[in-house]
Amino acid sequence: MARLRVGVLISGRGSNLQALIDAAATPAYPAEIALVISNRLEAQGLQRAAQAAVPHEVIPERDRAAFAAAADAALRRHRVELIALAGFMRLLDTGFVEAWQDRMVNIHPSLLPAFPGLHPQRQALLAGARFSGCTVHFVRPEMDTGPIIAQAVVPVHDDDDEERLAARILAAEHQIYPLAVRLYAEGRLRIDGNRVTVAGGMTPDVAALNPAA
Ligand code: GRF
Repeated sequence: MARLRVGVLISGRGSNLQALIDAAATPAYPAEIALVISNRLEAQGLQRAAQAAVPHEVIPERDRAAFAAAADAALRRHRVELIALAGFMRLLDTGFVEAWQDRMVNIHPSLLPAFPGLHPQRQALLAGARFSGCTVHFVRPEMDTGPIIAQAVVPVHDDDDEERLAARILAAEHQIYPLAVRLYAEGRLRIDGNRVTVAGGMTPDVAALNPAA
């Protein structure tokens, strides 16, 4: 069966991109990484794409509309069906977001709607949260909003600093992003307003990440 063609947008390290590349290396995984786009030439994720022989492009346009036009053209050229934002650190043009509505997902290192925006791990510590985690959601024009596909919960320890909490959340991100993309690729997600239902229920893997589920 044809695999879903995913385009990944990055700005930096690309560890979530790597998790998706690794998942897609399994032939049974229903998606493949068709294109990686970075807005920054020095993004480490570009090396990860090169190493995995995944097509990759740098679009350094600073103008939002110009970036959107170039990215859209590249994504269509590579017949991308789903965009996955993975540490992409720029706001996207509203027209671009609307054009890819329900075909673009993002991962954010908090349990949205808590702690949107920058430094969510720091926000969780400052708020004294006992738990935080990560969220994969469909993208809407307002930053870090949109129907939630999957979340994973991690504890906040008394002696955590931002770095330790971020590392614990990141490990969960690397598990949940490939799972969420798989659910999309299998056509199991239904969006109703802000709610997403998963045909057949969540996978056992998602439940394992959230033992209380
Ligand atoms: C991740 O924490 C992701 O949730 C956030 O930015 C970070 C990107 O890390 N949006 P990486 O580039 O995937 O390593």
